[in-house]
Amino acid sequence: MPGSAAPLLQVAALSKAFGGLLAVDDLSFTIDPGEVLGLLGPNGSGKTTTFGLVAGALRPDRGDILFAGRPVTRWPASRRAAVGIARTFQLIRVFLSLTALENVLVACLYGRGRARSPARARADACALLEQVGMAHKRDARARDLTLGERRRLEIARALATRPRLLLLDEPVAGLTATEVDAAVALFRGIRAEGVAIALVEHNVRAVRALCDRVVVLHAGRKIAQGTPEDVFAHAAVVAAYLGRR
Ligand SMILES: Nc1ncnc2c1ncn2[C@@H]1O[C@H](COP(=O)(O)OP(=O)(O)OP(=O)(O)O)[C@@H](O)[C@H]1O
Ligand SMILES: [Mg+2]
Repeated sequence: MPGSAAPLLQVAALSKAFGGLLAVDDLSFTIDPGEVLGLLGPNGSGKTTTFGLVAGALRPDRGDILFAGRPVTRWPASRRAAVGIARTFQLIRVFLSLTALENVLVACLYGRGRARSPARARADACALLEQVGMAHKRDARARDLTLGERRRLEIARALATRPRLLLLDEPVAGLTATEVDAAVALFRGIRAEGVAIALVEHNVRAVRALCDRVVVLHAGRKIAQGTPEDVFAHAAVVAAYLGRR
């Protein structure tokens, strides 16, 4: 829980430029085991880039990333996934021509904690679909699922790697109020199993309901941090930085 243990993730003085644009600028933050950290900020403030740096899709120009005390800064994404960093994508990435079950099965067969047999992988995949409330859609093709269902499927795929840290990039964007509530309940359940979560989200209700702490970015820099109540109490932060809705 916050404050009581060595951080699970330590990001120290991280910077990443794309050409002349400094997308992430001298950014430092930590996430404790089991903690839910919100990463907020307007469009283009560097949130997804930060996830890319933590997950290993991008290499920083400067700075360090420690995960469970190990310097992972130069590790490829696959090796980071193997030690427990998983992510979902702002633009959902599932295999549209595969069924829901097949999508999760692929992750179970090739992810961390790789299932020992096809039968075991299938059982794991079914359990994950159940966990995300998608058991009834097991045999539906991903292309026939709603946005909310695809997001759930992506979360099941991420969970198949048995993460210790789950990076969720705008996981409730575009969902109905009912779907948002269901997603919040799902994330609470994941967190209750001891998984730390970093949440990029513009939905203030979801952030309030889930996050222990939030970090606010603007033009790649950290401009505020604290509890959601503290941060949202700053009218200037709300007005200027919390984005489009
Ligand atoms: N691969 C890339 N090449 C060039 N510029 C990029 C690349 N990825 C991101 N950027 C730029 O870096 C900045 C930060 O982008 P990023 O996607 O991290 O923002 P974000 O906070 O996730 O925004 P949003 O809320 O719109 O998702 C933006 O100006 C973006 O255009
Ligand atoms: Mg983004």
